[in-house]
Amino acid sequence: MLLPFFEWCEQLWLGQFIVGSNWLFPVIESVHLLGLSVLGGAILVVDMRLLGLGLKNHPVTELARDARPWLIGALVVMIATGIPLFLSESVKCYYSQAFWNKMTALAIGLVFTFTIRARVTETESVGNTARRQAVVGALSLALWFTVAASGRWIGFS
Ligand code: HEM
Repeated sequence: MLLPFFEWCEQLWLGQFIVGSNWLFPVIESVHLLGLSVLGGAILVVDMRLLGLGLKNHPVTELARDARPWLIGALVVMIATGIPLFLSESVKCYYSQAFWNKMTALAIGLVFTFTIRARVTETESVGNTARRQAVVGALSLALWFTVAASGRWIGFS
């Protein structure tokens, strides 16, 4: 059902322009990876604190507040570079289970990050126990690891 849409995506001029170039795909993928390193840092610094590790002298709310612009900036870079990468090989992505795993984990990761994780990291409320923080930190790390690992696996599939 979706295949005609993916075939149409691959025929768009941007995808064709990238396919026709020797260097554009690796350059865009390098920026994708740079975005990943900033995203990884912004996620890790807060999730490690939620797990009771890392920067223990800083309140969770302070770390989450300071990491938020980096998190959002990195997400913008990942999506802005991910879409051209996708357009250059959308039919390959259609047949790649790793791509579907990545997009599923990415959708869940984004909702989780801006709902449950945001609530736990932006308020020092009574119900916000260390145990709850640890569970949220572990889930967040697992989700973003799945996105990154599936992204890497697309290249192998
Ligand atoms: C925001 C979270 C994202 C993360 C953490 C992420 C992570 C990754 C990683 C680790 C790679 C492998 C890079 C390499 O090893 O060279 C990759 C490649 C890729 N990503 Fe993403 N990505 C994200 C968003 C997206 C989005 C939104 C799309 C498309 C709509 C996308 C499409 C791709 C494609 C097509 C590749 C190339 C796979 C290949 O090598 O053929 N990514 N991504």
